[in-house]
Amino acid sequence: MKLKNALLCLFVLLSFWQCNSPQKEILQATTPVLGVTSQKAMVVSAREEASKIGSEIMQQGGNAFDAMVATEMALAVCYPNAGNLGGGGFMVYRTHKGEIGALDYREKAPLRAFKDMYLDQNNKYLQHKSKTGGLAVGVPGTIAGIFKAHQKFGSLPMQSILRPVILLAKNGFKITEKQAKQFNDHRAVFKQVNQENSIFTKKFKVGDVFKNEALANTLQQISDNGRKAFYQGDIAKTLVAFLQKNKSIISLKDLENYQAIWREPIVFNYKDLRIISMSPPSSGGICMAQILKTTANYPIAVYGHNTTKTIQVLVEAQRRAYADRSHYLGDPDFINIPVDSLLSDAYLKNRMDSFSFDGATPSHQIKHGNIQAPESKETTHYSIVDSYGNAIAVTTTLNASFGSKLYSKKLGFFLNNEMDDFSAKPGTPNLFGLIGADANAIAPQKRMLSSMTPTLVEKDNKLWMSLGTPGGSTIITSVLQTILNVYEFNMSMQQAVDAPRFHHQWLPDVVKVEATSFDAKTIKNLENKGYVIDYKNPSSIGTVDAILVLPDGSFEAGADKRGDDTAVGF
Ligand code: GLY
Repeated sequence: MKLKNALLCLFVLLSFWQCNSPQKEILQATTPVLGVTSQKAMVVSAREEASKIGSEIMQQGGNAFDAMVATEMALAVCYPNAGNLGGGGFMVYRTHKGEIGALDYREKAPLRAFKDMYLDQNNKYLQHKSKTGGLAVGVPGTIAGIFKAHQKFGSLPMQSILRPVILLAKNGFKITEKQAKQFNDHRAVFKQVNQENSIFTKKFKVGDVFKNEALANTLQQISDNGRKAFYQGDIAKTLVAFLQKNKSIISLKDLENYQAIWREPIVFNYKDLRIISMSPPSSGGICMAQILKTTANYPIAVYGHNTTKTIQVLVEAQRRAYADRSHYLGDPDFINIPVDSLLSDAYLKNRMDSFSFDGATPSHQIKHGNIQAPESKETTHYSIVDSYGNAIAVTTTLNASFGSKLYSKKLGFFLNNEMDDFSAKPGTPNLFGLIGADANAIAPQKRMLSSMTPTLVEKDNKLWMSLGTPGGSTIITSVLQTILNVYEFNMSMQQAVDAPRFHHQWLPDVVKVEATSFDAKTIKNLENKGYVIDYKNPSSIGTVDAILVLPDGSFEAGADKRGDDTAVGF
């Protein structure tokens, strides 16, 4: 009873601290449920073992960047469908001094890649080639990413950070129920793609201990010999031989050439929030900025959470932003992206001129906006804050679940199928139904466009939130709905993460909503206005992991109930 009263008091405090429309107070008074809280530091990730290792590194005096390295590698061990050595990702950071930045360790197209590499002589798109097997693999960036982050900000030796991860791979971890199902569901495809049995083709049940000796050895080599072990040394040679045997065009030169890159993040305001998110080659920051800046012109707190009017505003803003994404966004090292124009208030206002609450704007009537002078499933996210005041948001991926399904038995890890994130044939949808154009065409050494949206949010010049999610094209809309759930609808971090989500991406012209989680009347209202609603698909939208800074400076986690996600802090 005492705990309940304390939670209630905290929520009353939160209501004064945040905006306080009458509607918000009602919502809040009825839902006093906080996630895990901590005083000094916290990691929220897809697996308890990874959050624990990250948190322990910080308890030993390490900072959020040391914990990033540990968590990223621990996820590669205990969440191998998305955690990786064979993929890539993005990090957005904010230091205790308030300095912000972004790290791009996205995969790249190999030197021998070319625009029509997935088309046959009749111009037919051979879909399977960009999705499974060697030709689907982009040059991995994750190991370059962790070393780049560690070199600039790390405080503990790499060997100390990797030690508990190597032990995790050696001693194993317990398979959860969700994981047993996921591994078992993929057994047949692992066998088919790799043409051999491996530790992943066994039948699993909940509670089985899963050990990966080969991965422990690979991590040990990286710990002993550094980044070059992966990009130039023995691992590189073994990896390239394995890839080429499986029809990949990746060479030793590709690995040698790979560099992670520091980027300027996308920064914009939503009312009094300052939002810092990932810049191209991710579309996340720009798309989210377009949608939120458009949404700010409508009183959605008054309309209410997931009501017909709120859904209409967000869906119409999403429709227009994803149309722009398809046309304008790609690797900034190869194309000019008109960022300022895409984010200008006048442009965004003009884009909504065709919107009316009376009915849906069909997607075939929406094209990308007109800008005259151009300037330039499966992923995982974790958020970390440390006791020094540093915060990071990291999203990392193999693209599909277990990427290309190609698994190196010698090295102990899966390879990505990130090449499918390119626009293989303009107008033809990729794995996530996204349509691309020339801006995201394949070219040697180019980075494929992403939707990953690791994001930090400031309020009153202080860190307020760190968040992100997997989910392909739905990443952007999941992240922005989570921010709105706390800011506009006064939910706790855990509630905001767990709340039902919806998604629209221009094409296909469908609003995807999480099955059984929206009331029938709202669905009917939207259908009557001309929206096509997909509410029967049982798959969920995103698995958000987030941290909110509470008014007293402590942290509240939002670890998504949709997965095995867990927060660990102290
Ligand atoms: N592979 C999913 C993304 O980067 O958007």
